[in-house]
Formats: sequence, C-alpha cells, structure tokens
Amino acid sequence: MRLSPLGAAVCLLLFAGCTDTPKDDQAASHRERSSVFVMDHHSAARPEVSVITHMDLRLNVDLSAKTLNGSVTYAIAPDHGSEIIFDTDGLLVHGVRGEDGKDLAFTLGEEGKLGRALTVQLSGPTPQVTIEYEAGEGAKALQWLAPNQTEGGKEPFLFTQGQAILTRSWIPVQDSPGIRFTYTAELTVPKELMAVMSAQNPQKRSADGVYTFRMDQPIPAYLIALAVGDLDFKAIGPRTGVYAEPGMVDTAAWEFADMERMVSAAEELYGPYRWERYDVLVLPPSFPFGGMENPRLTFATPTILAGDRSLTALIAHELAHSWSGNLVTNATWDDFWLNEGFTVYFEKRICEAVYGKEYEDMLDLLGYQDLLHTVQRLDSTGRGADTHLKLDLKGRDPDDGMTDVAYEKGYAFLRRVEEVVGRARFDAFLRQYFDAFAFQSMTTERFLTYLEDELLGREHPEISFDEWVYGPGIPQDVVPPSSERFAEVDAQIKHWMDGTPAVSLTTAGWGTFEWMHFLRHLPEGLGTERLAELDRAFGFTASGNTEIVAVWLERSIGSRYMDAYPRLDRFLTVVGRRKFLVPLYTALMRTEEGQAMARNIYGRARPNYHSVSVRTLDELLDWKQMSDAVSM
Ligand code: BES
Ligand code: ZN
Repeated sequence: MRLSPLGAAVCLLLFAGCTDTPKDDQAASHRERSSVFVMDHHSAARPEVSVITHMDLRLNVDLSAKTLNGSVTYAIAPDHGSEIIFDTDGLLVHGVRGEDGKDLAFTLGEEGKLGRALTVQLSGPTPQVTIEYEAGEGAKALQWLAPNQTEGGKEPFLFTQGQAILTRSWIPVQDSPGIRFTYTAELTVPKELMAVMSAQNPQKRSADGVYTFRMDQPIPAYLIALAVGDLDFKAIGPRTGVYAEPGMVDTAAWEFADMERMVSAAEELYGPYRWERYDVLVLPPSFPFGGMENPRLTFATPTILAGDRSLTALIAHELAHSWSGNLVTNATWDDFWLNEGFTVYFEKRICEAVYGKEYEDMLDLLGYQDLLHTVQRLDSTGRGADTHLKLDLKGRDPDDGMTDVAYEKGYAFLRRVEEVVGRARFDAFLRQYFDAFAFQSMTTERFLTYLEDELLGREHPEISFDEWVYGPGIPQDVVPPSSERFAEVDAQIKHWMDGTPAVSLTTAGWGTFEWMHFLRHLPEGLGTERLAELDRAFGFTASGNTEIVAVWLERSIGSRYMDAYPRLDRFLTVVGRRKFLVPLYTALMRTEEGQAMARNIYGRARPNYHSVSVRTLDELLDWKQMSDAVSM
C-alpha cells in the first residue's frame, strides 16, 4: 500500500541540493529545484547518471515525403556520468557528435514496447551531444494529413501528439515526465505553410518557410509539440488568441471569446499564469483527443466548435493544465491522476467563475456519470486495479491505463478534501502547492505527505487516503453531485415515457448539457419509431453539435435506427477523436450485422485516424487478425 517515509526516501534518488533559488530565474535554476528523480518504468533514460537541460532542434519538414530530417543538440547537466541514454522509437539515427564535432560512440538497444534505448558514450566532460536523425511516415506521434482531410482542402497538414510516450517517435529524447528542459528550435517547412510549436510562436507566415522557436520554461518531453499547415492567427485578448486554417479562424475566435476571461479567472484562483501567452490551435477533425495542453498553445479538436460556445469547458480544462500538469507534473504515468484529477477540479472552478454554479453542477454530474460508467466497465472486464488513483502501469503501454478514473475519481477525491476543510482553506492550499512545486515533478506519495503536512494533519479519519488512492471503485464518502436543471430534464423524459409527444415537451432554453443528459437517460431498447419521433421533434441526426450527435448515434445503433446510419458513416470517417470513436464502434460490435458495418467503415476510415486511435480500434475490432485473414 502506501510507501513509508523510509521506503519513499529509498525510492527517490536525490540528485542535487539547494532549493531556494529565485523564482524568476526559471531556466537557470530548474535543475536544482527539480532535484529528485523517480524511477519511471516507461523510459530508458537514467537521469541520475546523465540528464539533459536544454534541447535545440533543427529539422526540415517534408510533407510530400512525410519525413522529418535533421538534428537535435542537447546540453547535458555538469557532473554527468560516462554515458547518456535517450529514448527512441522507430527513428533512423545517422550519427552522434560531441561539441567538438567528433563522432561519439553510440548503441541502439533491442526494440521493445517502449522503443529502443540510444546510449551515447561521453568521454570526459562532454557538455553537449548532437544526434543526426530522421523520422519517417510511420512515426507514432505524427499524423500527416492529405489536403482532403483539412478544412481548406488544398494543403497538407502535419501535427504531433506527444503524451504519453510518443515524443520519442519524432525526437530522440529523455522521454520521461520527470525530466524537464528548455528548448529552442529552427524548422524549415514549405513556404506556403506556417509552423507552430509549444513555444513562443509566430503570428505571421515567414517569407522563406524558416521558423524559430523558444521555450524558456523547462518542460518534460511529452509537452513538445509541432503543427504545420495553412494557418492564420487571430487575437482574442491581449495575451490570448487562436490559430486555425483561414476558413475557420473567425469561427474559432468567436467560439473561444471567453478565453481571456478564463485566464484571469484561473489566475484569481491559483496564482499567476507562468507561460506568458495562452493560444489555442484548432486542428483538423482527425485529431485523436479533445484537447492537449501543449504549453502556450493548446491543441484542440474542431468538434468543440458547436456554434454556441457550449463546449468551451474543454478550453478551461487545457488552460488549467498550465498549473496542474505543466507547472507541477506527474512524476510518472502511474501518478497521472495528479495531472488530470487536479485539472478537472480546476476546470470546474474556472467554469463556475465564468459561467456560474448551474453550469458547473451539470458538468459535475456528467463527469460523475462518466465515472460510474468507467468503474463498471473496468470491473466487469477484470481491470479493477485500473480504478485505483495510483496506477501500476509497469510493463504496459501507459495509454492503456489512462481512463476517466484519473479524471473523475481524482476530481472526486479533491472535492471531498474541499468539502472537509472548506473552500477557502483548500484554495489557499492549492495556490501554495502550485507555487511550492512550480516546474517540478510530483509523486502521489509526495503530494499526500504535503497534504497532511500543510492541510489535514496526520489524523484525518473523515478522508481515507488508502481507499481513495490505493483502493478500487468509488469510496462511500464521495460528495454526490446534483443538478436542478438535470432534475428538470429527468422530469421531461418521464413525461415522454408516460405518453406526452416529443414535440410537446418543455425543452426551451436547454443547452448542450441538458441534451446530453436527456439522450444518456433515455431507456434502453427504444423502438425505431420512438427514435424517429425524437429525431423529427429535435433534429438530432442533423445536429452540428458533436457531443449531442455522438450520444444520439450510439442510441441509434442500439435501436437500429437506420435513418441515422449515413450520418454515422460520415461521422466515423471524418472525426478521429477517440472518445467518440470507441463508444460508437463498441456499440456496432455488439451485433453481427453491426460488426460487418464497423469493419467496412473502419477499413475506409483507418487511414484517416491518428496512431493512438488506430491502436485502440485495431484491438477493439480485432483488426490485425481480420486483415491477416483477408490476405491469406
Ligand atoms: N492531457 C489530456 C489528453 C491526453 C491524455 C493525451 C492522456 C494523451 C494521454 C487532455 O488534457 C485531456 O484530458 N483531454 C480531454 C478533454 C478534457 C476536457 C477531459 C479529451 O481529449 O477528451
Ligand atoms: Zn487533461
């Protein structure tokens, strides 16, 4: 169970001393302050032997050949050992040089689940190494889009997704969330396109296709990100703005108009925003996530452009990561809840400040429904251990254990602490926590100790850490969420079930959340006539709101409501967001006829998905076996 202080001390490798460096001198002092390295099972790097402090990336981006070609140079912390180990996955390493330009001996380890370790010999005091390399079409982090997968339809597009362990597939790097470094980059892209990174970004196209970037705050490798495409920028507030394809940038700027207010609300809660600008990049619809908190530049799916600003909680979420995750970072993927649980808590607080309590109550209840559902699914598939907050992902792809549990049970735990100590004390504690551990990594145990030291004391019978953090399911003392607006929705569902026609239901003023709740709570197994009635009354199949369409399509599959199938086909071939794809394909796989349809659609759509979605869906649809069977 929980590590004793002694066990924890043995586990942590103390690397350097001195912790009282001035706050503003981040780049120079971060190594001293992030002085503790923890064993990370998902990286071959041995930071306690040799660790990087700065990365300089020089790449040529060829969108026709689908290759990245160039070099990466690392500054290495003084007092390093005789070798340094990087993570790589699928990279072609051409050579490694020292600062003097002379070749350094290197070896590439066996290919494994985590890629291949690149070990470089450091003879004498070698302050830097340069690795010349190439990443090809198959690099797992990269998605190369053909023009027809973009909004403009004319230019190709490239984006990266680093979390959890994919950065090593496009940069040889010490790819562990506990290792932080600053970076600079110089990228050459086709002149017609613009490049942006998780760094200081251009707001205009360069004349020659060469772009330079700086990230002066130390970040872990999973937060390095790049996108190249036909992009424009539009300002929202003085330090916020949006990047998108030209045909979408105005729509996006309108949708995200509250961004500047969100940054201010966040600062009011938990202290200054430390990354200067906060911009959002709207990607093409194949982006596999809703959002990704790349520092200074959140990457977002266009599926949140609902036309009514109703899905911007996602922006609040990614913004909140600028504190929880990007400032104080989970030390290993086993501590993932420290990133996501805190972020969900913070997201809800931002939303409450900007949109009010009723909105937050609905968000809370939808999240709780997701949690109940996820816990039930994990329990029934023998994955009860994945319902613990502290995970054990050793030997697995971390992506497989990253579920709603980290988000919603993590949130519920923090919500419980808030309930016990009161909001004012909890807020003061969180603010202090983000300050105390800024630009450092955090383990679950270190957090719990800090929570006891600074807030709860050693005795806290009303909150059992063991149950919440190291136990399964949802503890008894969870604070159950409730929403008056959803109670009203429940009443309308009841009227409909009792015979009131759909058109006569009282739905005026309902927003996305009410409709989601409505669709989630319709009884199972409704006949197609009943779905047709709802569709005629509310136009679900034709809705432009992806959250609503996604639940509706799932219900339609369950009831074999064929009128929605053309929309389902289109949705699955255009949208690559895994959160939507998984429930829809899962629903199809429940029947034989559905399976045939799933495989037919997947066969066409698979080339349009990012590798993280492909990995999940190949397994769900038994795809490898299918394609082997076909080719035999
Ligand atoms: N950091 C995550 C996305 C992620 C998690 C990528 C794990 C890779 C591995 C991001 O902040 C996130 O949580 N996105 C959510 C949206 C959010 C509102 C819950 C998503 O993509 O749906
Ligand atoms: Zn998140």
